[in-house]
Amino acid sequence: MPMSVNAPESSAQGLGSVLSSFERPITVLVTGASRGVGLAFVRRLAAEPGVRRIWAGCRNPAAAAELAALAEADDRIRPLGVDVTDEARLASAARSVAMEAEPLDMVINCAGVLHEPEGMQPERRLAEVRADWLMRSFAVNGAGPLLLARHFEALLPRRERAVFASLSARVGSISDNRLGGWYAYRGAKAAQNMFMKTLSIELARRARGIVCVALHPGTTRTDLSEPFRGSVPEDKLFSPERAAEQLLRVLDGLGSSENGGFYAWNGEKIPW
Ligand SMILES: NC(=O)c1ccc[n+]([C@@H]2O[C@H](COP(=O)([O-])OP(=O)(O)OC[C@H]3O[C@@H](n4cnc5c(N)ncnc54)[C@H](OP(=O)(O)O)[C@@H]3O)[C@@H](O)[C@H]2O)c1
Repeated sequence: MPMSVNAPESSAQGLGSVLSSFERPITVLVTGASRGVGLAFVRRLAAEPGVRRIWAGCRNPAAAAELAALAEADDRIRPLGVDVTDEARLASAARSVAMEAEPLDMVINCAGVLHEPEGMQPERRLAEVRADWLMRSFAVNGAGPLLLARHFEALLPRRERAVFASLSARVGSISDNRLGGWYAYRGAKAAQNMFMKTLSIELARRARGIVCVALHPGTTRTDLSEPFRGSVPEDKLFSPERAAEQLLRVLDGLGSSENGGFYAWNGEKIPW
């Protein structure tokens, strides 16, 4: 069983490794790396001595100033154009990674959307449901991680440990749904959960060290949560750095027997 995690808020840099489960230096792909939890993953992974390369996937690398600054200071970080709704760009990104001829040991999908400026908003009631918002949420939060897997799966090692993780959300749990609302986000994250479970079964047939899981980061101080976190107490609201560190510790503690699960930031298994 994965361990319970309680990482201190300030432990993002220089306080020891959170990755001990790999036997050799690893290459990681993080999507949604322009900001929020994805950017924090890049920063935290760059503090790991055992990380050889970080592919930092984002829709518009030229506009991702914080990521560009990290990449400027550390040549292990490679910004990569990735839109999880665009198969041509996914294929081209996968070709760029394949050209390095090194296995992709870990993929962490952080691309996600809950609201957009002057666009999609989470619905409080049925009357607010809109077909275009349902499709948008499904494209990014539901189909996105599966299409990412479709294009990058061939780069995962077949014999050694490999991780394919996607940030879902606890609100995508059907059995945990007590408040209702947020139709497009909940429905698309529930679809993501099913895709991850189904993918975990197929990947385990050809990659014996695979850990393919859905993750819940906990409520984290990012643009995504900004309009909706008023009622969350300070001690339950994580910085992106803390969320990334906690999830890396959880991932590091998962083995093949946890393949196909849905795990929270503290290692707790979430019911579907
Ligand atoms: N924050 C929380 O409290 C919380 C709680 C539960 C689950 N989550 C999940 O955690 C993940 C990360 O969320 P966050 O809080 O870090 O959100 P965020 O700060 O809003 O960042 C979202 C990221 O997703 C990227 N993205 C959006 N659409 C994309 C697409 N089509 N292709 C590729 N990238 C795309 C964004 O890129 P651009 O910069 O190009 O827009 C951005 O990098 C999401 O899946 C979210 O649902 C977050």
